[in-house]
Amino acid sequence: MRPVPLLLFFVIRLCSAQSLWLIPVPQQVVIKGGFFPLHSQCVLRDSAGRGAPAWSAMEAVLGRLGLDLPEIGRDPRTDKKSDGGIYLKVRETEAPGHYRLLIEPRYLEVAGSPSGVFHGLMTLAQLILGAPKAQDTVYLPCLQMEDQPRFGWRGMHLDVVRHFFPVEFLKKYIDLLALYKFNVFHWHLTDDQGWRIEIKKYPQLTQKGSVRHGSMVGHYNEGRVDDLPYGGFYTQDEVREVVRYAAERHITVVPEIEMPGHAQAALAVFPRLSCTGGPFEVGRVWGIYEDVFCTKEEVFDFLKDVLTEVASLFPSPYIHIGGDECPKTRWKVCGVCQGNIRRLGLRDEHALQSYFIRRIEAILQGLNKKLMGWDEIMEGGLAQTATVMSWRGTEGGLQAAMQGNDVVMSPGRPCYFDHRQKVPEDSLTIGGYNPLSAVYAYEPIPPQLPSEKHVHILGAQGNVWTEYMTHPAKVEYMVLPRLPALSEVLWSPAIKRDWQDFLRRIQVHKTFWQAGNYQYCETVE
Ligand code: ACM
Ligand code: ZN
Repeated sequence: MRPVPLLLFFVIRLCSAQSLWLIPVPQQVVIKGGFFPLHSQCVLRDSAGRGAPAWSAMEAVLGRLGLDLPEIGRDPRTDKKSDGGIYLKVRETEAPGHYRLLIEPRYLEVAGSPSGVFHGLMTLAQLILGAPKAQDTVYLPCLQMEDQPRFGWRGMHLDVVRHFFPVEFLKKYIDLLALYKFNVFHWHLTDDQGWRIEIKKYPQLTQKGSVRHGSMVGHYNEGRVDDLPYGGFYTQDEVREVVRYAAERHITVVPEIEMPGHAQAALAVFPRLSCTGGPFEVGRVWGIYEDVFCTKEEVFDFLKDVLTEVASLFPSPYIHIGGDECPKTRWKVCGVCQGNIRRLGLRDEHALQSYFIRRIEAILQGLNKKLMGWDEIMEGGLAQTATVMSWRGTEGGLQAAMQGNDVVMSPGRPCYFDHRQKVPEDSLTIGGYNPLSAVYAYEPIPPQLPSEKHVHILGAQGNVWTEYMTHPAKVEYMVLPRLPALSEVLWSPAIKRDWQDFLRRIQVHKTFWQAGNYQYCETVE
């Protein structure tokens, strides 16, 4: 064993559970004194080879944060107890996300479910980043940890329509999700201002529908629009690459294809799918558009084709179909839509929206996928198997859970990270004030919800709408440090939350973000 520098020895002895820097804070941890030296003579012992991809993903995340681990040896023999052994034990039978981390002076072990071992390695990554280092050796504090997530849906969203972000940035974003134990990336791919996913059957969707001929400059209220073409889309190969990259990090990518509203980019390409027949242009201004998909049969044929390709690209059990902010203006005066209301004996246009969603639900069931939508999908009657994402406050989520539907909570406050995080406002934002402290204090289970219904609250999600985020650096700035705060809400037991201690830990994490060249908001309020 190498000699330990004297100063380091004291640093490590001072380690206590209260002085660790982990976010989210683990369920149980006991610091045992002493340290495990991680260096190039360590050997990864991973009998079935199932932990090795998680180890490689951990190395990649560390590399992103500017830390290149020394290359370590690999040996499939797990029975051989030797100094410097790193044991990965993947057990299919354990609960999702559950892991145990044992750091002893002579060896280190991560055991748990497949996702648990990965999350355990993300805990290890944070320990490595913050631990004392000398002579190419990382001195990890000896400890025993037992950990698992509080919620199964720990999501972060990104709107790539209002502004487009290249695959390289999506990977950087996904690495941040991985570091903080998120397991869902909600990818908002279509909207009024652009169609950003290649659909082989309808190449015009991206050839024409991905480009708008101008964007808003300054705040919406100023009403200023430039005339510069703006576009971008992901090929199906790129989509598969993002899905693969996320899966390596135990993150499910949930695609969102907006309907029946927020569909102007698709209607610009295929105006016959609207009520009026158009013509339309890809949206240049933000907001809500009156022209939406009609309820004619041709629309369901088209959406079935699109969803069939989308379903084949994404292993996610869920497909998000939007459903929010769909004005009924055109449906009220459209012969086909009014004919449908009469023929089906529907009460009104809200019931017609419910009919629309149920038709899509049936298409998705045929593709072996579950429907998820914003809480407007409840208007006119909620489809039986739908999962609701509650964004207009928590009322929709509460109601849906009472009815027995599953829910992901994402109320504007505190889950919208496009809102400003400091006073005075430091850059262009939307939607009001949503400081870090509000995110950290969030409780996803509504107090009125009876305990037997709690299982329907799958978790929560942070949303990142990008009207005012023109570049990756702004996205990073808006999510840091609110994303780690939400991670602790979603992963850690509620009684373990400690705002003052979180602020202490955030200071350590700022050094990680600096090393990874992530922008962040310095002020915390
Ligand atoms: C939304 O923010 N319109 C879901
Ligand atoms: Zn119509």
